[in-house]
Amino acid sequence: HPKSLLRAIQEDGDHLSKLTNKHVYSADQFDREELLQIFRLAAKYEANPDRFGTSLQGQILISAFYEPSTRTRLSFESAWHRLGGDIMSITDRSTTGLAKGESLADVGEMFNNYGDCVVLRDTNANSVRDMMGALRIPIINAGNGTDEHPTQAFADLYTILKWKPSLIADPGGEKINLCLIGLPSKMRTVRSLLKLVALFPECFSQVTIVNDQQQNEMFDKGQLESLVQSGLNIQTSDNLQKVLPDADVVYINAIAWEGNSFNQYGNQFAINSDSPLKKGAIVLHPLARGAELCRSLDNTAHNWYFAQARGAVFLRQALLTCLVRRAERVLDIV
Ligand code: CP
Repeated sequence: HPKSLLRAIQEDGDHLSKLTNKHVYSADQFDREELLQIFRLAAKYEANPDRFGTSLQGQILISAFYEPSTRTRLSFESAWHRLGGDIMSITDRSTTGLAKGESLADVGEMFNNYGDCVVLRDTNANSVRDMMGALRIPIINAGNGTDEHPTQAFADLYTILKWKPSLIADPGGEKINLCLIGLPSKMRTVRSLLKLVALFPECFSQVTIVNDQQQNEMFDKGQLESLVQSGLNIQTSDNLQKVLPDADVVYINAIAWEGNSFNQYGNQFAINSDSPLKKGAIVLHPLARGAELCRSLDNTAHNWYFAQARGAVFLRQALLTCLVRRAERVLDIV
């Protein structure tokens, strides 16, 4: 329950006030204490899910999604609505000046006149930085090509800590095994999540990355070294059936590390209700899913992926409250 996480994290508002007007392009811009304070605020919102606020009243979100999305766009928009703000939503780049060759920098310059915050998703890894240079209002990276998806990673770690608040409340206590099915060098959610996990090495006894690539294909240059340097015990495996029985958290992603890869790898890296999951283990998936995450798991206690998607709304409420300069700080909601 979010209230357990709320109790596990000591309030420290100074870390939140440092976030005002900050552009969010990468998970590695955040330190551990900032994240914990965002999670604490998210847990406050989640503990009061029916309570709609007014802290963003009169503020306008520009929700620019130049690549398809269900969860990220709608959860950002739901979060903004829940805080009383207004939204302009772009869901098709062919209806904008980009289709005529206008640059993202010029579009960003215009956005300054129209809104108070931009959420951008684009297929191009450079898009957020291209627009950011022209912006005087904060921008949030909602997925830039195969590069990063920082707020998804926030929601992922928030879910893990809600599931086991003792990881924070009792730092010398039980640690968990994380099994991450995916490719850190090619998956934006995996890349961002690993950056956050590296800030909490004491919570993880082991992080096992499962795929069938060679190590030089599996990681970006320097990525493995920096994960190990953070204190994480990183293992790799191509044998999911062997890894699953010891995993406390199984993070699976759409099998998308190469063209038509599900046909090639799907069965090898798919999970279902017959998979050898440990009792009490939870399964996370950023969704949308493919056949790698069988629906037979939906009605089992392993299914935390729907809770993960739900929690993202409160997580994004918390982040938006902190970023937007003119947001009234209505934090005394519990
Ligand atoms: N998790 C995620 O990014 O989902 P969408 O593609 O639906 O936004």
